[in-house]
Amino acid sequence: MSNAVLSVKDVSVAFGFDKNGNPRDGKQPLQVTDRVSFDIFPGEFFALVGESGCGKSVTAMSILRLLPWPSAKIVNGSILFNAGASCDDVDSRDSREACDLVKLSLNELQNVRGSEIACIFQEPMQALNPVVTIKKQLLEVFKFGAVSNSASSADLLNLIREQLRLAGFTDPDRVLNSYPHELSGGMLQRVCIVMALLPKPKLIIADEPTTALDVTVQAQVLAVLKEMAEKTGTAVLLITHNMGIVSQYAHRVAVMYAGRIVEEGPVREVINHPMHPYTQGLLAAIPESHSDLRTLVSIPGSVPHPKDFAKGCRFADRCCKCAQASAGVREKCLSTELPPKMVEANHFAYCFLQSFFA
Ligand SMILES: Nc1ncnc2c1ncn2[C@@H]1O[C@H](COP(=O)(O)OP(=O)(O)OP(=O)(O)O)[C@@H](O)[C@H]1O
Ligand code: SF4
Ligand SMILES: [Mg+2]
Repeated sequence: MSNAVLSVKDVSVAFGFDKNGNPRDGKQPLQVTDRVSFDIFPGEFFALVGESGCGKSVTAMSILRLLPWPSAKIVNGSILFNAGASCDDVDSRDSREACDLVKLSLNELQNVRGSEIACIFQEPMQALNPVVTIKKQLLEVFKFGAVSNSASSADLLNLIREQLRLAGFTDPDRVLNSYPHELSGGMLQRVCIVMALLPKPKLIIADEPTTALDVTVQAQVLAVLKEMAEKTGTAVLLITHNMGIVSQYAHRVAVMYAGRIVEEGPVREVINHPMHPYTQGLLAAIPESHSDLRTLVSIPGSVPHPKDFAKGCRFADRCCKCAQASAGVREKCLSTELPPKMVEANHFAYCFLQSFFA
């Protein structure tokens, strides 16, 4: 049995349903992600990377079924949480048996949201109540069973102070007595990390948690997230469009393009030996500190809208390898619905590249 904390298998999401789950106005729903699969293991920092519009957030939101209702629906696949749990586990964090999040009732799902799988979003200000102090908001977390009911509020506050110190706050009481607007974006995001970790979740989903912050604060926030998650053994699904962040913080990475995973593997493997031309393009586009505008590289074109997804490889119209290939290979790229899976140990990509160009 897999010991993955989360096992996403063949998940496809489509938009365009009515409240009865039927296609809205009789129109064909628009499928935006296609058979997305990946596993995340305990304590792992797993990154999902890709350009804007490739389906990262839709994938992340499908895990806790936070997709817009009734328009969006998971039309295929399973999302197994706690795949490795056994009934003999004694630790309370392991007490839940394996369950398919796609099939849970909303009531059951409510017990998973926040306490077993927590989220950190792009805009910390939107995750916090602007008229309530940080202290009250952090204490609120314990109302949902994060810590034994018998703990006194003094004990809880000490626990929060300790976590705030771990998150880099030298004066936790100043933070606790502040309102959100009195803290900077980086401070707020660190408060959100503390808030997400207080219930000791098994998994944190962090969707572009540092995009709204400047670069130096980004590094500080991500370092705090990584260090705190490592200390508590919490796995992290980090959504980002930044390959630089992936290389610095993640253990494994899945690269997403036009609603599909196109490559996955350990970060060092993917960065040193990218197999898919899209990954190669993303890596080439990482600016170096000495680059000037003339040397910046970009992938020509942009991610297609789901209604314009190509019949064959969805990257074909931007792929320089395809453009350089013989007519026969180009024909394969343009007409084969899913390019073949090329595997090298625990690293794989969906592309004809290896078979035709190696
Ligand atoms: N509420 C919605 N209704 C219809 N289509 C949607 C909706 N939300 C997302 N989509 C479509 O789903 C696709 C994937 O969007 P998603 O938000 O997952 O991209 P992303 O990879 O997270 O991009 P970004 O990096 O900009 O956040 C896009 O084509 C988008 O237009
Ligand atoms: S399958 Fe063909 S078009 Fe697609 S990425 Fe590989 S070489 Fe390029
Ligand atoms: Mg997004």
